Amino acid sequence: MYRRDFLQQTSLAAAAIALPQALRPFAPSKKSKVRLGFIATGFRGQTHIEEMLKRSDVEIVALADPNPRMISDALKLIEKAGWPKPEIFQNGPNDYLKLLEKSDIDAVFVSSPWEWHLAHGIASMKAGKIVAMEVGGAMQLEDCWTYVNTSEQTKVPIMPLENVCYRRDVMAILNMVRQGLFGEIIHAQGGYEHDLRGVLFNDGQSAYNSGVEFGEKGYSEAAWRTNHYLNRNGELYPTHGLGPVATMLNLNRGNSMIRLSSFSSKSRGLHQYILDHPKGGTSHPNADIEFKQGDVVTTQILCANGETIILTHDTSLQRPYNLGFRVQGTKGIWQDFGWGDPEQGHIYFENQMMHSHRWENTQSWLEQYDHPLWKQNAAAAQSSGHGGMDFFVDNAFIECIKQNKPFPLDVYDLAAWYAITPLSEKSIAQNGAPQEIPDFTNGNWRNRKPIFSVDANY
Ligand SMILES: NC(=O)c1ccc[n+]([C@@H]2O[C@H](COP(=O)([O-])OP(=O)(O)OC[C@H]3O[C@@H](n4cnc5c(N)ncnc54)[C@H](O)[C@@H]3O)[C@@H](O)[C@H]2O)c1
Repeated sequence: MYRRDFLQQTSLAAAAIALPQALRPFAPSKKSKVRLGFIATGFRGQTHIEEMLKRSDVEIVALADPNPRMISDALKLIEKAGWPKPEIFQNGPNDYLKLLEKSDIDAVFVSSPWEWHLAHGIASMKAGKIVAMEVGGAMQLEDCWTYVNTSEQTKVPIMPLENVCYRRDVMAILNMVRQGLFGEIIHAQGGYEHDLRGVLFNDGQSAYNSGVEFGEKGYSEAAWRTNHYLNRNGELYPTHGLGPVATMLNLNRGNSMIRLSSFSSKSRGLHQYILDHPKGGTSHPNADIEFKQGDVVTTQILCANGETIILTHDTSLQRPYNLGFRVQGTKGIWQDFGWGDPEQGHIYFENQMMHSHRWENTQSWLEQYDHPLWKQNAAAAQSSGHGGMDFFVDNAFIECIKQNKPFPLDVYDLAAWYAITPLSEKSIAQNGAPQEIPDFTNGNWRNRKPIFSVDANY
C-alpha cells in the first residue's frame, strides 16, 4: 500500500514538471521589497513564514498547499502578526501552478516533500520566480542536471536553504580554516545523526512520538518522509552534513567532488520502534513492514584536490543529536559532539598545545574566532529557529534578491549536494561500487571564487 502511494506521489510530481509552461523573460533588478509566495506551508514552510513576518522588506502574497490544516496554521501566524491575508491555493497538489502565474510574486520558498522539490523548483524558475529551496536529496541523478539546465536557460537563480552552513560553531571553524589554523585541509566529516523515529511515525494528528502510523495515516513528515525509508536505501539527507564542509573545502569554487562509494548497514531501528511503541506491538499491521533504508549509511567522497569526506546518515536508531563534524588538516583537527553549542566540541592544534596529544574544549576557540557575520547579527538571530541559523539563511536569500547579488549557495551547490542521494543509492545497490560525481559547473569550478560568507554581509 505504502509502496504504491509512494510511486503514485512520485509520478504525480514528475507529471507536474511536464505541464506546458511559457517561459517568462527574467529581468533581475534591485528591490526595496521582495514579494513572496510559499509553496508548501507545512512545519518548515511555517518556520520560513515566521522568519519573514519579522521583516519590513517583504510581503507575503500567496500560499499554496493542498493540506487545509497546514494552510490554516500558516494563516494563523500571518493573522497574529497583523499582516494582510495572502491569496490561498489549496485545490490539490498542482494548484501551486496558479500561484506561479501571479505577476506580483518575485520569489518563492519551496518547503515541500523531497519528491516534489524538482517539480516545484523547475516550474518556479520557468515562471520567473527566484527560488529558495528547502533541503533534501534528488530522486534521480538526472534531476540535478534539470536544476542546472533550467536555471542556466531561464537565468533564474535558486538557493538551497542549507541552514547548517550558518551554524555558529561551523562558521567559527570556517573562519579558522580560512585563516589557516588547520593548515591544509585533508579530511572532513559530517552527517545527519538524528533519531527521527518519533518524526517518521505518529498518530496522524500530532507530530512527535504519538504513534506508529505513516503514509496516508501519518501527519507532517510521517506522511511522506517514511515512504523514502520504505522504498530507498541511501544517503537520503546529505546537505546538513555536506554543506558546511563544502564551504570549508571550497567545493564548486576551486575544488570539486569527483567520486563516492556508499555502504549501508542492515535495517532494524524502525521495525523495532513499531514493535516497542505502546500503540504498536507485534499485532500492529505495520509490524510486518520491511524498511529498505539501512539504519546507518556511510558515504566516502573523494575531492579533486585530494581531500576525503565521510558522510553518515543515522536516523533510525536511538541516539542523541549530533551532525558529527570533523575537520582535519596538516596543523589542526576539530570534532563536534552535540547540537552546536560552543563547548560541545574538541579541538587540537599541536603547535599551540605543545604537542600534548590532548584535546582542548572548543569554547574559548570558537568565541575567539566567532565569524564576523555572527558577531554582527547575533541579536537579530537570537529568536530564530535552530539556534539562530535560520535567520542567516533566510536573510541571505532576501538580501541577495534586494541587492541583485549572487546567492552564497547556488544551483551548482544544490545539484552537487542533491546528487549524493541517487549516487549513494546506486553505489549501495552495487555493493559499494564507486560512482563518478558529475561536474555540474562544466569545469568552471576551477575559476569560481569562494563566495559564502567571505564578509560580514550574508
Ligand atoms: N533545513 C532544516 O532545518 C529543515 C527542517 C525540517 C524540514 N526541512 C525540509 O523542509 C521540507 C518540508 O519538511 P516539513 O518538515 O515542513 O514537512 P511537512 O510534512 O510538515 O510539510 C510538507 C508540506 O508540503 C505540502 N505539500 C505536499 N505536496 C505539495 C504540493 N504538491 N504543493 C504544495 N504543497 C505540498 C504538504 O501538504 C505539507 O504541508 C523538506 O524538504 C525537509 O527536508 C528542513
